[in-house]
Amino acid sequence: MSSRETLEKFLEQNKISLPPILKERLLLLDKPQISEGEEISPEERPNNFSHTLDVARTCAVIASMWEKTNELRQYVIKKRELILAALLHDIGKTGPSGTDPKTQEIWVKSFSIFNKSKEGDKQSKFPETPAEEALAVHLKITLEDAQRLILAMEEGLGKKIETMRDIYNSHVQNTADTLLEAGVNPEIIFIASRHHEITNHHSYTPLGPGELPNFESTPQNIEALERAARILEIADQFQASVTRNGNSDPQKILKRLETFEPFKEFLDGKE
Ligand SMILES: [Fe+2]
Ligand SMILES: [Fe+2]
Repeated sequence: MSSRETLEKFLEQNKISLPPILKERLLLLDKPQISEGEEISPEERPNNFSHTLDVARTCAVIASMWEKTNELRQYVIKKRELILAALLHDIGKTGPSGTDPKTQEIWVKSFSIFNKSKEGDKQSKFPETPAEEALAVHLKITLEDAQRLILAMEEGLGKKIETMRDIYNSHVQNTADTLLEAGVNPEIIFIASRHHEITNHHSYTPLGPGELPNFESTPQNIEALERAARILEIADQFQASVTRNGNSDPQKILKRLETFEPFKEFLDGKE
């Protein structure tokens, strides 16, 4: 099944629709991922499209458990919002929001530098390497072209890019900007822009309720959305640990769901 068919099937199964512009960006995440001459073959290296779908599927399962607790009934967020946020959380790995499709492809390739194989690549090029040098080597482009690429990203982000860590961190803001521009529900943007908040909180700037148009900012809704964001973060890390590296234990990550009272009962088998 092609990636497009897989995505369409997933959307249909979960009764969700996506603006065409977002669908195309998501599908770009499935492009060939690495430059020639690297030790890991493209087949072995997980790509961001399969990761995205895995995270969305994981969130769909967790959201079903959450739904059964009845807790969701009182909130603006529903299962659908969580699944959509999961599906879109890494869309910023196609670059800044206004980027044209050709440049988006280059960004997808650039972000693949951070994907590790299951056996684990050495984390040599990342994270303190100057961005332009690393991009020039990875993409096999000139230093001038790498500088141009970075300049365009700086304009999109409104902040400086110096190291590869800055490039990596930019994907969260790219995601938020892209979803804002596409007119996605503020609840979904709120959740998606917080998917690294606990683990890398100092490196990311999620959008606050005040920056989201038409956001129903009641304490109850914010609490539910924060919880949804934590679920997405756990699903994201779980999938990354299963498919990308052996640094973290998937079971340990999943156990963090126990800190949510409603899930504790399910995980303990006391449903
Ligand atoms: Fe991410
Ligand atoms: Fe992710």
